This record gives sequence, structure tokens and C-alpha cells, in this order.
Amino acid sequence: MAMKKSRIGVLTGGGDCAGLNPALKWVVKTAMDEPLEAGRAARYDVIGIHDGWKGLINADISSPDTQGGITPLNPAVVRTWDRYGGTMLGTSRLSPFDPENDCSATVMENIERLGLEAVIVIGGDGTLAAATRLARAGVNIVGIPKTIDKDLPETDYTLGFETALNVITEEVDRLRTTAGSHKRIFVVETMGRLAGWLALEGGESCGAYIILIPEHDFTMKRVNDLVMEGRRAGTRYEIIVVAEGAKIKGTSEVVKKAGMDSFGNKALGGIGEVVARKIARGTGLETRSITLSHLQRGGAPCAYDRRMGRYFGIAAVDLVVRKQYGDMVCFRNGRIDHCPLENIYGRLSRVDVATRYDTERYNGRRTILNAPGRPDAAGRRRP
Ligand code: F6P
Repeated sequence: MAMKKSRIGVLTGGGDCAGLNPALKWVVKTAMDEPLEAGRAARYDVIGIHDGWKGLINADISSPDTQGGITPLNPAVVRTWDRYGGTMLGTSRLSPFDPENDCSATVMENIERLGLEAVIVIGGDGTLAAATRLARAGVNIVGIPKTIDKDLPETDYTLGFETALNVITEEVDRLRTTAGSHKRIFVVETMGRLAGWLALEGGESCGAYIILIPEHDFTMKRVNDLVMEGRRAGTRYEIIVVAEGAKIKGTSEVVKKAGMDSFGNKALGGIGEVVARKIARGTGLETRSITLSHLQRGGAPCAYDRRMGRYFGIAAVDLVVRKQYGDMVCFRNGRIDHCPLENIYGRLSRVDVATRYDTERYNGRRTILNAPGRPDAAGRRRP
């Protein structure tokens, strides 16, 4: 007797990043992998939902094409997707639970009408928070973590992060040559929202002289003193990496515009220029600022994001096969794993200043094995 097919929907929501298309490709390839069907006692087809949750508001089941918010996918369609950045399905920052326009009921109706056994949601904190609330309401959801901010708890990796680090490193390499020629200071503003991971690990990768993160408020006096110390030691130029969410002690985050998006996020941006102006004024040295902005989210995925997208995509379908709904795939202790979406709801992963940041030098840690909490040579935990 022919096995009945179940239908999986997949969507990408929130800010785009590299690694989404590899994940989409492997969701489709794994779900529709014929040799695996017998062992699973299940067959699937997959539809792509366009523009994040928006596609489930506009979904038109009579017309499964891009106009109706959905498109049928198959391995031939997604064959080359893993080479490309962005998301072939499109995305949006629309939350079905926006207090000013709650359309969660429509989303659930359309999931029902489309006959979706499960929805695989590839998103960051906002998109996965909405996914958690839908899971509570009984929708079969599996999450895949993505965001260049790497600010989701329960996972050591989120898709897009490594490609963004590569962009920071490459752009700073370019800045170094011109900074050196002119003996200038460059302040490089990265994204990352309220988490300093991107600035910290980007700054460590490119060898920045100073790294400023949201988890530790800084003073301009210390920044200027460090710059002058460098000059006295003979440096020709300095690279200072600052996270968009970093703050001067006693002030609040700098924003591009007032208000919040549908997920309740502020539009951060502008601290790089503020810091550059204050350094120029405080030290008399020529200082420029550059905001890397959406360059960090653009371009083809690096090898790591292609592999992690592949593994997360495969693992997400594994969870659907096990009917283990309400979970998110994750990467922990070097292994692909999974955790309840409830564990990440309303929580952020931020840099642990005590073990990861040097508050004197405003830079990455200078001791790893001898950091607090690590065992000493006798196996005793350091205070
Ligand atoms: O969450 C990802 C992110 O790139 C943040 O680092 C940044 O603050 C925000 O999105 C920018 O959002 P938008 O693309 O809406 O300008």
C-alpha cells in the first residue's frame, strides 16, 4: 500500500543572513530523500512559505505559486541554493503576534488549510518567539537558529555568524592599509544588537586594538588613554571595533530612529561616529568611522555556514520524522543537538564579561586556561 504523504512548510523570518539557503536546501533534500522513506515509514513534500510569517497570512491554497505566498519545493529546485546568500524564500520582520495587528489566528487557519503537518521555522529571537507561541497553541513547529548576532541561548552557533565575521575581518584588512598610510584611527561599527559576540569575535579575528561591547559600558577617557598609549609605543594607526549596542558609561544606546519594529527591537546605529568624534576631540588625532551595516549579512555563505546550514536542515527534518515538535535544533559542545523552544523564549545570550572580556584593555580575554572557573594544575577550580 502506498504511504500517505505529509506536508512540511518551511519559512525564513527576521533579518536575512548567509546560511539560510543551505538550510533550506537540506530541509528539502532530507524531507524528500527517497532512500530514507522506507526506514522512516513516512513520505513528505515541502512547500516554501514566502517572506516569513507574511506568507502564511497571504497564503492562497488554490494557487501554490509565488503570488499566493507559497511555492512547492523539490530537490531539483533547491539544487544550487547553498551557494547563495540571502534567502530564496524572502523574509520580513512581521510578527503574527504584533500587539497592534495580531494575525496569529489567520496564520493558524492557513497552516490548517494548507494541510501542513509541520512548519520548520528558520529565525532569530523574534521569529522563534512567535514560533514558540504558535507551538503553545498546538502548531507542530521545529526551529532552526539563525542570526549574525549569535544572541540565541542554548546554542553555540547561529547561522550567518561566521560569514559575518569573515566580512568584518576582510573589511578591516582593507582599512588597515589606508589607515596606516594616513596615520589615522578607524572606528568600525558592527551590528549585533544587545549582544557583543559579533564585535568581540570580529574584533578578535581582525586583531582590533580596542573592542567595545554592549555588555561593558566604556568611558571615553579610557579609550583615549589607550589610543595615546599605542601612539607612544610607536603605532601608526588603530582599529577600534564597536558594537552598535555598546554604550558610553551613563548614556543609553545610540539609535538611528525612534520606535520599535514588529518584534519590539530598537533600530540601533551611530555609536561608531559618536566615538570617532570624541576620539578626534580628545586626542587631536585624525579619526574616521565606518559602519559595516548590512554588508555583514550579505554575500555568499562561507564554508562553515554551508555546513552548519546543511546539518541544521537535516536535523530539523529528523525532528519532524520523530514528531518531536516544539524543539529547536542547536549546536552544543561540538554536536548537533536540540532543545525545547521554550528554553530560548524571552532570553538572550550575551558575552560573559568575567571570562571573555578584558575590562582594562577593552579587548578580548588574555588568559583562557587560567580564567576564573577553570581548574588549576591540581584540578581545583579557580575563584
Ligand atoms: O538581528 C540582525 C540584525 O542585523 C541586527 O544586528 C541589526 O541591529 C538589525 O538586524 C538590523 O535590522 P534591519 O535589517 O531591519 O535594518
